[in-house]
Amino acid sequence: MSLGIEKITKKDIGKQKLMHKVLLIGEGGREAAIAKSLSKNGAKIFAYMSFVNPGIEKLAEKVEIGPLADFDKAFHFAKENNVDFAICGPEAPLVNGIADYFEERKIPFVGPKKEVAQIEGSKAFARDLMKRNKIDAYPEFRIVETISEAEKAIKELKDYVIKPDGLTGGKGVKVFGEHLKSDSDALKYCEQVLAQHRKAVIEERVDGEEFVLQCFYDGNSIVQMPLVQDHKRALDDDNGENTGGMGSISDSDHLLPFISKELKEKALEIVKQTMLALEKEKGMKYRGIIYGQFMLSRKGPIIIEYNVRFGDPEAINVLSLLNSDFLNVCYKIIEGNLSPSDVIFQRMATTCVYLVPKGYPTNPAKDMPIEVDENKIYEKGVELYYASVKRIGKGLYTTSSRSIALLAKGESIYEASEKCYSVVNHVKGELHYRRDIGTKKLMEKRMDRLRKLGILKW
Ligand code: AMP
Ligand code: GLY
Repeated sequence: MSLGIEKITKKDIGKQKLMHKVLLIGEGGREAAIAKSLSKNGAKIFAYMSFVNPGIEKLAEKVEIGPLADFDKAFHFAKENNVDFAICGPEAPLVNGIADYFEERKIPFVGPKKEVAQIEGSKAFARDLMKRNKIDAYPEFRIVETISEAEKAIKELKDYVIKPDGLTGGKGVKVFGEHLKSDSDALKYCEQVLAQHRKAVIEERVDGEEFVLQCFYDGNSIVQMPLVQDHKRALDDDNGENTGGMGSISDSDHLLPFISKELKEKALEIVKQTMLALEKEKGMKYRGIIYGQFMLSRKGPIIIEYNVRFGDPEAINVLSLLNSDFLNVCYKIIEGNLSPSDVIFQRMATTCVYLVPKGYPTNPAKDMPIEVDENKIYEKGVELYYASVKRIGKGLYTTSSRSIALLAKGESIYEASEKCYSVVNHVKGELHYRRDIGTKKLMEKRMDRLRKLGILKW
């Protein structure tokens, strides 16, 4: 089995370890959390971004602006500055082979190579891999390449979800009964999908409650992070469009109110089995972060999808709790000698709330001024992460994407939520945010629904 980077890392990193220079690729709230965590542990950040994130800019030694798809530009910036390793926040560069590009040119990379990143890049591959390897944590599915195959799948599955086979920036999945009102709507959507992608996955719609398990993986040991729950819908009470995520919660025991220790162990086992199957089939180790998006269903935890990077905002929850040295965790992933004792998380709950342009995601109020009273926010012990904001002179402006994340910690999710909401008025502008992230009312509603479905027994 080819490990690829084994030869370069030990020797080269050994020489430069004291300098701790890191190339960070990406410019969102997730990358702001990565930058904060790395620089807290003494790393000098060299940030390659498609536009300036003012939070990352403040922490970075140097910034280079360029398209994230321009691997050569990112690599030359890294080389000029003699970085020790690179880490990438978003999925697209990883799925398109940025880790291979860097490692072939002898810069170690925290993130999987192209072949194994297909676990996110192709939903059809991911579903088939689990089926072929008898990892029984997936909904019934069909992979279709023609409209007549799609028609057959829709008839057979009745209640279904349609997923393009490829990256769609989180916007490609359509659910029957929500986004698709009839089978003919669904078929029209399939036509659209198959005009752009070779394949689509049509799968059974599963009812339950979603949660996220993120893990560090060095190709040998898998180390779990606290569970997180994201809130995908734009509006309170889970109404409105699907978004990149409007906020997220994690609990002090690193579980969630509706996920027991046994269920978390089950979810971890599913991720482990998938990684082993992936490596066996591809003949290559996966190294980096693996994100399992689960649904707690009647069948137990099932995989909705895998991502090959931290979640945004889920990275903000977990990295704010990481007591261990994240820089060391990155080196251990590269060297392939990570152990659970390298990764200790604070036993606190977190609530993260995203402030987004009004009208996001369909009709976002972009180029509108934002005013932030950082000191008032920090005085209350709340953390602030800039995401997609534009800085012009001294002013900050919205873009079409999520603007600012606030993160609070507490003894409980609810305490963290109250703390987070106590500072939102210190960010002013044409912004919208959900008012129910981490509230007891929303959690009780979710748990009641699970009880009614017969999924939750307590
Ligand atoms: P994905 O892009 O695969 O994360 O899917 C986006 C959203 O679609 C998920 O967060 C779920 O809410 C929903 N979804 C995806 N697959 C299914 C499924 N099989 N059953 C029910 N909902 C799903
Ligand atoms: N918050 C969802 C994701 O990062 O995929």
